[in-house]
Amino acid sequence: MTDRTQQAQETADIARLEIPSRDKRADLQVMDGTLGPSVIDVRRLYAQTGMFTYDPGFTSTASCESKITFIDGDKGELFYRGYPIEQLAEHSDFMEVSYLLLFGELPTAEQKEQFIHDIIYHTMVHEQISHFFRGFRRDAHPMAVMVGVVGALAAFYHDSTDITDPHQRMVASYRLIAKMPTIAAMAYKYSIGQPFIYPRNDLSYAANFLHMMFAVPCEPYAVNPVLERAMDLIFILHADHEQNASTSTVRLAGSSGANPFACIAAGCASLWGPAHGGANEAALNMLTEIGTVDRIPEYIARAKDKNDPFRLMGFGHRVYKNYDPRAKVLRKMAHEVLDELKVDQPLFDVARELEKIALEDEYFVEKRLYPNVDFYSGIILSAMGFPTSMFTVLFAIARTVGWVAQWNEMIEDPNQKIGRPRQLYTGPTRRDFVPIDQRD
Ligand code: CMC
Repeated sequence: MTDRTQQAQETADIARLEIPSRDKRADLQVMDGTLGPSVIDVRRLYAQTGMFTYDPGFTSTASCESKITFIDGDKGELFYRGYPIEQLAEHSDFMEVSYLLLFGELPTAEQKEQFIHDIIYHTMVHEQISHFFRGFRRDAHPMAVMVGVVGALAAFYHDSTDITDPHQRMVASYRLIAKMPTIAAMAYKYSIGQPFIYPRNDLSYAANFLHMMFAVPCEPYAVNPVLERAMDLIFILHADHEQNASTSTVRLAGSSGANPFACIAAGCASLWGPAHGGANEAALNMLTEIGTVDRIPEYIARAKDKNDPFRLMGFGHRVYKNYDPRAKVLRKMAHEVLDELKVDQPLFDVARELEKIALEDEYFVEKRLYPNVDFYSGIILSAMGFPTSMFTVLFAIARTVGWVAQWNEMIEDPNQKIGRPRQLYTGPTRRDFVPIDQRD
């Protein structure tokens, strides 16, 4: 699906690694991308020195070559296929952005129409899946349901699990993008005991999702256009984010040749964690706990206290060491949604004041901690009527297109190998088995 004509450039530069005390030396190739830091190709390091690199959390390791998303954390920039996120947020929509992520270019009007048709054609799920839902407890966390049902799609769509066939890969990709909102809305409806609402193919991707979430069969439901736009914007902003934990999980799972439904279920599982996609839920819970502006200093003090595990949720990012550009767009959108719904959201006041105080505080300035995408998204989503437990699910819907774009790119990469990190072993050295009656 992706364009592989442009490869990373091998430069004339060689990085020389010398360990004189061990009489080891390695000459390693330096490679340039089109943007961002160059990399040192360590693939031959073990052959040359008998040593591995050590990098827990991959803080200095490029795990793959990619043409999809670029982040400059120091400048606070995010590009999808070269286009700045602010421009896409202002001028584009989620279907167009999905096409861009998958195919590398913005669609023509005709391509866009065809793409929307093809996605919409796949929005329904196999009827048997609705019975599958009945096996879950009603009080299950919707992300637990998502992990289970998305993984189970492989049991329903056997005709799109052959990853060596580009057509099947494309059908699986379209199915995943199309069915995630349907499955997410079903998880919600199941939890509140309302009937499932079938998708409506005359609505936009975002409006159809809101309809499946909030409509009931006994009365008409009209989607508010401001909320439709807000939903679409949230989907655009969360669509992809380079090699984050869940995307790397999808790539690692897929590197063994696992089917795409299993890989995206693995991505959902990784996204669920509170340090990743679960942070929007945690951020709103934190704002609720703080409650009023006068209690902010107490929580700032706790976040700075080394003996207290508390962190300001929605603050800080592994890559952004300047403002997260997505948070800027969402702060503006939060105003529009709250004005439209005419709701007084005291938590928004708490959030804005917390941001102001934290941005002036030496601890946060020095560590370059800024609000991330999750800081304002929870306020918008709760005003729109989503329970906090659904926040990460919405993130998963949006990120599915990024996951499938990255998964397709990996499958088509001629350098792709099964992901198999090495380790620095620090356990016991060889020892002999001791029979139980001779143990101390
Ligand atoms: N509140 C208080 N202190 C913090 C915070 C925070 N939110 N985030 C980082 N720090 C401190 C941390 O204690 C550490 O201090 P020290 O150097 O004195 O030990 C320093 O800043 C560096 O933190 P780190 O954990 O080494 O940084 P990281 O790059 O490994 O972690 C992070 C990034 C996002 C996991 C972290 O900032 C965090 O836990 N933030 C809160 C959770 C959150 O909002 N996550 C959403 C991320 S954006 C959405 C997504 O991509 O899923």
